Amino acid sequence: MASLSPLSLLLLLIFAFADQCTSQNTTTTECLKLPLLHRSPFLSPAEALSRDYHRLSAFHNRAVPKYPVVSGASSGSGQYFVSLRLGTPPQNLLLIADTGSDLIWVKCSACNTKCSAATHVPGSAFLARHSSTFSPHHCFDSPCRLVPHPPRSRCNHTSRLHTPCRYQYSYSDGSVTSGFFSKETTTLNTSAGREARLKSLAFGCGFRVSGPSVSGASFNGAHGVMGLGRGPISFSSQLGRRFGNKFSYCLMDYTISPPPTSFLTIGHNVFPRVSRIRFTPLQTNPLSPSFYYIGIQSVSVNGAKLPINPSVWSVDERGNGGTVIDSGTTLTFLAEPAYRQVLAAFKRQVRRLPSLPEPTPGFDLCVNVSGVSRPSLPRLSFRLVGNSVFSPPPRNHFIETADQVMCLAIQPVNSEIGFSVIGNLMQQGFLLEFDRERSRLGFSRHGCALP
Ligand SMILES: *[C@@H]1O[C@H](CO)[C@@H](O)[C@H](O)[C@H]1NC(C)=O
Ligand SMILES: *[C@@H]1O[C@H](CO)[C@@H](O)[C@H](O)[C@H]1NC(C)=O
Ligand SMILES: *[C@@H]1O[C@H](CO)[C@@H](O)[C@H](O)[C@H]1NC(C)=O
Repeated sequence: MASLSPLSLLLLLIFAFADQCTSQNTTTTECLKLPLLHRSPFLSPAEALSRDYHRLSAFHNRAVPKYPVVSGASSGSGQYFVSLRLGTPPQNLLLIADTGSDLIWVKCSACNTKCSAATHVPGSAFLARHSSTFSPHHCFDSPCRLVPHPPRSRCNHTSRLHTPCRYQYSYSDGSVTSGFFSKETTTLNTSAGREARLKSLAFGCGFRVSGPSVSGASFNGAHGVMGLGRGPISFSSQLGRRFGNKFSYCLMDYTISPPPTSFLTIGHNVFPRVSRIRFTPLQTNPLSPSFYYIGIQSVSVNGAKLPINPSVWSVDERGNGGTVIDSGTTLTFLAEPAYRQVLAAFKRQVRRLPSLPEPTPGFDLCVNVSGVSRPSLPRLSFRLVGNSVFSPPPRNHFIETADQVMCLAIQPVNSEIGFSVIGNLMQQGFLLEFDRERSRLGFSRHGCALP
């Protein structure tokens, strides 16, 4: 059976170069390297947490949607951004990098050159009319079959030219973006620092955007979302066809000042040069095809394995449960029975540290480390399928919510249909490679310092 997706024929690289992504054992010699920026300005960690929590609890109150996507956009803090140049001439847009959803979309403005300051804030949106290469997909085009449509949207069979492809994409907390599913030229930097122009990147030109995830202060100045999920319309899927079907990133600890630069790399990776790589297979869930699932076998706190029933971690026949790795969520969420065990083990380990008269709202465990020289916080580790151990340092799961107050940055997933999430804080300092070709996740603590 022909397995070419409709989109694979649309991408055409105009210029291609050799660059530093070359690895010895492959023939592909180019890749893309996009700087990843971090922003966490306006909200306190507690506020960020309540937003994060809001997002997942909202998911649990809904029926499982047809397109079960979760965006990191709902958390006002702790997001990683990439910039994308879209259109001819290129317009610079800042997008949230989200491995938990598929669609690439930007806020679009229908303004033309004469639009007034009252109707358009400069730089706030993509101006489709300022680009000579913008065009909406027609509703008959095969890519249009890859996006969810708004209710009652019909394709006009007699007007082949003028019925655009309408999309409506929903996030877990009920946030929605809708508009025209379109194609556009994008200008990208390869790792050699040169420019590649890519025609026909499929993306959503969003005219309507609503909900806490994608509007207001919590969106943090972003122009849209870059979905990096597993579905055919994601950025990693569309560019993977040209640059190699894998991507990697390193989320740098953003409390370091000045914050180090990290990159999202599409295509060939740096692993041939990285030591102590561990792998775990990526698992699939047909009911949530966007997500990158990994399998947890057991959890330890300070080396002691917790007595958690392994079934807590599995995906059930209705597609619920499992663990996803998501760049768009800040905190980590663990399925309820596991969370209680982890919390109890942490409490036992920190009992010698002064607790707080009043805990920080939203957190179950906080300690006051002022006056404690070299406080030792417990270490969490996950044994994953494939017998690899993911053992992040304590700063990946404790955050400072006030001066010298450290809180456990893990939250419970309450509902039966909830799944566990390894958020971006937990991923900090690791080079992560999403090898879609071989369906595995590679990780190493020794790759982030590489150029
Ligand atoms: C479809 O398009 C044709 C030609 O543009 C137009 O005359 C007709 O009214 C349209 N039909 C609907 C249902 O919009
Ligand atoms: C591409 O590289 C140029 C020159 O190094 C830099 O100024 C620009 O910000 C980069 N653009 C993107 C989108 O990364
Ligand atoms: C933490 O402990 C110190 C004394 O060691 C105290 O002065 C401070 O107020 C405490 N902080 C909080 C938030 O309770």
